[in-house]
Amino acid sequence: CGIVGYIGHQDAKDILLKGLEKLEYRGYDSAGIAVMNENGVHVFKEKGRIADLREVVDSNVDATKGIGHTRWATHGEPSCKNAHPHQSANKRFTIVHNGVIENYEQLKKEYLEGVELMSDTDTEIIVQLVSKFVEEGLSVEAAFAKTLALLHGSYAIGLLDEQDAETIYVAKNKSPLLVGVGLGFNVIASDAMAMLQVTDQFVELMDKEMVIVTKDAITIKELDGTVVEREPYTAELDASDIEKGTYPHYMLKEIDEQPLVMRKIIQNYQDESGDLAIDPTIIDAINEADRLYIIACGTSYHAGLVGKQMIEKMAKIPVEVHVASEFGYNMPLLSEKPLFIFISQSGETADSRAVLVQIKEMGYKALTLTNVPGSTLSREADYTLLLHAGPEIAVASTKAYTAQMAVLTILASVVGKSKGHLADFPVVKELGIIANAMETLCDDKDRFEMIAREYLSVTRNCFFIGRSLDYFVCLEGALKLKEISYIQAEGFAGGELKHGTIALIEEGTPVIALATQEDVNLSIRGNVKEVAARGAHPCIISMEGLEQEGDAYVLPEVNPMLTPLISVVPLQLISYYASLHRGCDVDKPRNLAKSVTVE
Ligand code: G6P
Repeated sequence: CGIVGYIGHQDAKDILLKGLEKLEYRGYDSAGIAVMNENGVHVFKEKGRIADLREVVDSNVDATKGIGHTRWATHGEPSCKNAHPHQSANKRFTIVHNGVIENYEQLKKEYLEGVELMSDTDTEIIVQLVSKFVEEGLSVEAAFAKTLALLHGSYAIGLLDEQDAETIYVAKNKSPLLVGVGLGFNVIASDAMAMLQVTDQFVELMDKEMVIVTKDAITIKELDGTVVEREPYTAELDASDIEKGTYPHYMLKEIDEQPLVMRKIIQNYQDESGDLAIDPTIIDAINEADRLYIIACGTSYHAGLVGKQMIEKMAKIPVEVHVASEFGYNMPLLSEKPLFIFISQSGETADSRAVLVQIKEMGYKALTLTNVPGSTLSREADYTLLLHAGPEIAVASTKAYTAQMAVLTILASVVGKSKGHLADFPVVKELGIIANAMETLCDDKDRFEMIAREYLSVTRNCFFIGRSLDYFVCLEGALKLKEISYIQAEGFAGGELKHGTIALIEEGTPVIALATQEDVNLSIRGNVKEVAARGAHPCIISMEGLEQEGDAYVLPEVNPMLTPLISVVPLQLISYYASLHRGCDVDKPRNLAKSVTVE
């Protein structure tokens, strides 16, 4: 979910809707805005996309103040009734909220006996509480602070009072929220991207702070009323970074940006003498650990699986990789001196954050690899390594995945060198070769479009097989295809398919095989023969030096340890074209959200 707010002198509707469009990647089940003028508060909401909301917003309502919300359903189905904004029973207060209030049932029982509730949402409880405390005699600010103090859970809140044209009340705990400042106007947004249209000056908020936002001032306070002074920073996002430009989809743009991202990463992790360098305190923390635990979700988890191989091979430290939502509830026996590495494009994923909170309570240290400076997982960990991939907007992650693997490679190699291994592994040069190879692949889009057409136009399922490093990329390839084309896809270790899943192979079932690893080249080709003998339609993607006649595509040669960085590119492009050919929404696939801030 994401929220926005505006108070100033321009048309609020337009700014809010544009802002929500930029946040749409965070959820698009339903959306709503509330704008306020001398006639009161006007609420518009609609199930579906921002484009659907635009249709129902009355263009005749002039207003220079308002709040908005885009939703990814958690409590309650996606519907107009459950869409934000929500209002108090007397309609005086209107709220948008991102997050989850854990104790809302209890608060309802304790404070709101007899109040008629309009929805089943935890959000409505917040606005009803504020209204109740105001009716009992508190000022709006005091009622808001009292309500916030009662809430357990996460929230980013924007609140309007119909009797006060001058103010938006704002608060944050655990969910991301920024205040943007301008001349004669101020804004709020879950992500700076949403409000770059009007300002690049933003003030960061800390957990359990509230803000009184007027058009000329912002006043940040702690819940006990202590005023906090904080200077704005300049968001170093270029508005063009978040535009599609001439691209039909963000996903295609982001796939194409991968060579550039590789070069940026190299630059950012080089010292003056051109050697790779990472903050020595991070290297020390890793060297002090007896085992590393990588925690992540989705695509970032897949990058972690590759990262484990890099770290174990280059730095010789044992690594475990865990899915965050499982680790939190079924923790393995930890080693004596663990160090945790969180991998998260957004830095906001609630499943990962829950583990971070848990392990911090246990007294352990954490490093976060993220694309978003200042994100929750970055702020709450002891150390951060940035991905430098630039904003990733398509829901299906592409450039963040390759950036994660590149940064993990650099980390592994710097740790390795610090321990005296890897003297002759020229990582900078190898990553440069990767960037060039990615470019070659991106120039070959027609070929991947043809592969998608040939193999995936009509099929209901698809298998990806590979061994060793290729296996991990197959998991990611299958996830990409599932996410955006809705074809049922599975990634399998080449040798494992025959132990059950091969039963699913029918005449014409596409099986995409990666063959980039010399030591398993013959065995993966054997696995391809097994499925072909049962009717499968195999598509082998191999690498120069390992190719055989009949391979569908031959990747340029790169260092065998780094092949995942390039072998995933054809899989991204094939998924992209499969989605396109099937008429799916490439950038905003159904049911998904880019940053999932609920457990
Ligand atoms: C969501 C996205 C996935 C992503 C996962 C982890 O489910 O749809 O594409 O891989 O979250 O996100 P993170 O931001 O933590 O990498």
